[in-house]
Amino acid sequence: MKIKSADFVMSNSDVAKCPNEPLPEYAFIGRSNVGKSSLINMLTDKKNLAKTSGRPGKTQLINHFKINENWFLVDLPGYGYARVSKKDKKTFQKYITNYFLQRQQLVCSFILIDIRHKPQPIDLEFMQWMGENGIPFAIVFTKADKLKPLAIQRHVTDYLQHLLNDVWEEAPQCFITSSSKKTGRDELLAYIDAVNLE
Ligand code: GTP
Ligand code: MG
Repeated sequence: MKIKSADFVMSNSDVAKCPNEPLPEYAFIGRSNVGKSSLINMLTDKKNLAKTSGRPGKTQLINHFKINENWFLVDLPGYGYARVSKKDKKTFQKYITNYFLQRQQLVCSFILIDIRHKPQPIDLEFMQWMGENGIPFAIVFTKADKLKPLAIQRHVTDYLQHLLNDVWEEAPQCFITSSSKKTGRDELLAYIDAVNLE
């Protein structure tokens, strides 16, 4: 798929106020600093479309970006950011969960995992919650440029094996990406195209 246009539309914390158009959308979620906003910039080939930062907690709202005038990419705040106050954390969680539970236009979500890390309870719990609520997702391993090819394969295999030993009967679809090297771009865009037609 070719990206011809990518435009910021709006930010808000209320799913009811998200764009009221019946267009398919794809959301990016995962721990703070995992690279959600960077991945959106990489996919759209626009350096500063979504705001990124070396410090976790940068994205704080539900951000809609309209692609090719007919679908949306959605950048979400990260979970598991220790430095936000307890009250803020709860508000985050509430509107993130409302977004996933209520957004009719959501076709598929991408749960981002830093490829260097071992399976973390917070990600496993989130995947389980998505599964229990019947919300489709794929896994996107990020920052693959930080590992050598053999280590990439080993980390991915170990991660998927962990999921299969946990509660999952099938391993989810997964992608290996690097926003700095543009790894995985074609595969992700092709997947977005394919799930939209299903
Ligand atoms: P929050 O909005 O805080 O939840 O973070 P985020 O998940 O949107 O992460 P963001 O895209 O802001 O990136 C966080 C940091 O990781 C930044 O310093 C990025 O430059 C870096 N980063 C993101 N993707 C990659 C990648 O593929 N490779 C490398 N080496 N660094 C990356
Ligand atoms: Mg972000």
